[in-house]
Amino acid sequence: MSRSVSKPEFLYARSFNIYWDKLNELPPELQGLAYSDNKTELNRGKWRESFNTPTTSEDLLHVEIGCNAGHVSVEWARQNTSNSNRYIGIDWKFKMVYKFAEKIAKYKLGNLLAFRANAERLQYMFAPGEIDFLYMFFPDPWPKKAQKKNRTANVEWLKTVAPLLSDRGYFHIKTDHQEYFDYILTNLSQLTDTFEAFDLTRNLHEKHPNPKSLLIPDVTLFERLFIKDGLPIYSVKLKPKRK
Ligand SMILES: C[S@@+](CC[C@H](N)C(=O)[O-])C[C@H]1O[C@@H](n2cnc3c(N)ncnc32)[C@H](O)[C@@H]1O
Repeated sequence: MSRSVSKPEFLYARSFNIYWDKLNELPPELQGLAYSDNKTELNRGKWRESFNTPTTSEDLLHVEIGCNAGHVSVEWARQNTSNSNRYIGIDWKFKMVYKFAEKIAKYKLGNLLAFRANAERLQYMFAPGEIDFLYMFFPDPWPKKAQKKNRTANVEWLKTVAPLLSDRGYFHIKTDHQEYFDYILTNLSQLTDTFEAFDLTRNLHEKHPNPKSLLIPDVTLFERLFIKDGLPIYSVKLKPKRK
């Protein structure tokens, strides 16, 4: 990973997107609900202490990468307000993350936080073992040859992710893009000491009587569109291997 975004000292640049300002000067009702840019790295190892509801090390931390405006994470959080699950959703789109934070405030969700950050920096946001369940649903496929270097799930990134996961959960990846799925599997074939793949399928909803009836959070916003278009959903779960 030679890209500067992956270096420890990387500083996010100021953006002239109006939502950059909004995320950096949060109104009182959104304070403590959203973190942006390098602020997503300040509580590394201490995110359980940062929720607006009492949280212990026993509570399970779920992290959704590329969560858009938090459609899935918000529903998970709403369905789990009185148990031991805590959620963090990450996306790099300023406006989407601001809208996401507004939903957290609207539903008064103390078990959910919104991050505006680049998922490539996951190892600087979270400490080893801090994440129980990690999700990457429908990452941008970057299909053109010249774009492939932008793919998040490259070998080097996957290597940095494995230590962040505790032994209690797994890393779940879903995509509609066959070529990206095969790219991930090829990368995993170089990481047989790092991850064990399970529940691998090239047609996740094959046995469902009516996949079109599935709703968020059982499927994502994009997944609903792909199902409507009759596309198969590729899915794999990964458990980190301990040496
Ligand atoms: C195709 S959309 C899928 C959204 C959602 N997961 C779903 O399934 O409905 C991909 C999302 O990932 C976000 N994204 C892409 N690359 C990212 C990165 N490196 N870091 C954070 N978010 C990223 C995009 O902004 C977008 O919201």
